[in-house]
Amino acid sequence: MKKYGLLATFVCAPALFACSDNSNVDAAKTDKDQAFSVGSTSDTEAQNVVVANQADAAIASGVDYHSFANPNEIRVTHLSLNLTANFETKQLIGDVTLDVKRTTPENNTLVLDTRALNIESVTVDGESVPFAMGETDKDLGTPLSITLPNAANAVTVAYSTSPEASGVQWLTPAQTAGKKHPFLFTQAQAVHARSFIPLQDSPQVRVTYDATIKTPEDLLAVMSASNDPTTARDGEYEFTMPQPIPSYLIALAIGDLKFKAMGERTGVYAEPALLESAAKEFEDTEAMLEVTEETYGPYQWDRYDLLILPPSFPFGGMENPRLSFITPTVIAGDKSLVSLIAHELAHSWSGNTVTNATWRDLWLNEGFTTYLTYRIMEMIYGHDRFKKEAVLGYQDLENDIAALDQNDEILAVDLRGRNPDDVFSNIPYEKGALFLREIEQKIGRENFDAFLMQYFKDFAFKSITTDTFIAYLDDTLLKQYPDKLDADRIHTWIFEPGIPKGAPQPESDAFTKIDDTRSAWLTGDVKATDIETAQWTVHEWLYFLNNMPETLSKAQLAELDSAFSLTTTKNNEIAHSWLMIAVENNYQPAFERLYSYLVSIGRNKLVKPLYRELSKTPEGKAFAKRAFEEAKSGYHPLTVKANEGYVN
Ligand code: BES
Ligand code: ZN
Repeated sequence: MKKYGLLATFVCAPALFACSDNSNVDAAKTDKDQAFSVGSTSDTEAQNVVVANQADAAIASGVDYHSFANPNEIRVTHLSLNLTANFETKQLIGDVTLDVKRTTPENNTLVLDTRALNIESVTVDGESVPFAMGETDKDLGTPLSITLPNAANAVTVAYSTSPEASGVQWLTPAQTAGKKHPFLFTQAQAVHARSFIPLQDSPQVRVTYDATIKTPEDLLAVMSASNDPTTARDGEYEFTMPQPIPSYLIALAIGDLKFKAMGERTGVYAEPALLESAAKEFEDTEAMLEVTEETYGPYQWDRYDLLILPPSFPFGGMENPRLSFITPTVIAGDKSLVSLIAHELAHSWSGNTVTNATWRDLWLNEGFTTYLTYRIMEMIYGHDRFKKEAVLGYQDLENDIAALDQNDEILAVDLRGRNPDDVFSNIPYEKGALFLREIEQKIGRENFDAFLMQYFKDFAFKSITTDTFIAYLDDTLLKQYPDKLDADRIHTWIFEPGIPKGAPQPESDAFTKIDDTRSAWLTGDVKATDIETAQWTVHEWLYFLNNMPETLSKAQLAELDSAFSLTTTKNNEIAHSWLMIAVENNYQPAFERLYSYLVSIGRNKLVKPLYRELSKTPEGKAFAKRAFEEAKSGYHPLTVKANEGYVN
């Protein structure tokens, strides 16, 4: 049931600027029955209703297919949160006051996103106002429609969250490092803010916020907002976020947290047991911040702190503004996995300052950030390390391309009718970064850096679509470098599957040596114990292991393991690569470690490939099922959802 008109009716020129013609907005209704539309407001470029892809005229660019909200009629501009964390009932309880701005005075129905929230009351100036919950969608939750009195510009919703809220994890003391206090953290990206706040849960709606959070007295609350490292620990905490941010960047954590400064603007929050090791591991954060500012323009967010989460955190990191959330699995003792910090920091420019308008445009966040990450790593740790990490990233991309459906290899991916969580891959990350690398190589690094600095400035605090970016390229680099860049090539990168022919291909001399070593060992010319590994970094180990042939003999596996103690490695990434080999070859001596790995780590990127591989044989699946059953109560809802299919 497509309701789209002719291609031309969607295009408003110049594409870079907002459409003011409302007929375009009406034409942009989605094929679901909700009146999603894109309209004109000042804080987003997302309203360009331009048909995104000539090949598939049905995708309307800028339409958020993952929100019920109607920001083009009434837009929420500020949130005032007032919540108490109840660790007994695993609920956040309180209210939120939403400031709203109407497009026209007669727009009185405000539609918010919710998921599994208990709505207690909806009031304006203390008086109840009518509201209705719509039909629940399994991926999108339930729309909440509120009829506002004429001229009301704020509404208060009193509510509580469900103990199973998809965006909140409540941890028992046993699941923390200190074992004495409970812990809570939220993870809103992509569509989970609605499970702990009723709001317009679309990345094209930017809000400022303030919050009062009440906790048990001995715990500290921190948010993606101003955090005062010296605040008294009294169970009541105040926050403000003065810059307008998309809802997926609203974040809260509560636990037995201590703070340690790393630099003038940088510091780390962690449970006491991890505080020193985290501060040491990430001590280069301040330097990373400085080089990124020099290259891409001022840091817009005041402080930059890290929060170290318990190991069940489902991601490596999350770029919550002013306070990136970080998995403890990257504290390796040798800074070998700190590109994660460069990545989350880089999001302060690509993602948090310039934001994807819809989840289809995620590559604008992740591809730019991955490109910036490589550049930051090169500036801080040098060319050789950068090259190694680029090769590893490229191989991850190649592996995904071998496994993915072609449609999911497209940067501007079609997510209609799908849950963004289910489409997670290296495509937006590594393919996006490779695209930018190609432009850099064609026009020269200095020129590309200048372009990016201007891009972050021109779109600061805006949410933009892929099409807005293309129009911007048309207006800037394509005009400046007509003999170096062309629109067809750009179209291929963004709308075609796979890696375009002639794309840059990262190489590393250090890795060529590893290839030789691996070959010599595989042919039996060299014994494992004779391999000179003293100078190997994590990168060499990953490259050595990840490129082993699919099948190794039990004798070969035992030889590697006895020479290098791989089963007991402390590095979680090396352990992951080794355990993948162990599962593929049913190498039983590693299965005890595999089991403890699966039940102690909840980072989906590390556990999901293991479950997937285990599920391929009946014995593997039975093993996976046992581990999953034990681990499940400690996993984040996202990790449970991503893996339960492999064990059932
Ligand atoms: N913003 C992402 C995490 C994310 C993406 C959550 C999409 C939900 C939906 C974060 O910045 C990220 O990319 N994390 C990666 C880091 C890695 C690529 C260095 C991760 O967690 O693995
Ligand atoms: Zn990211």
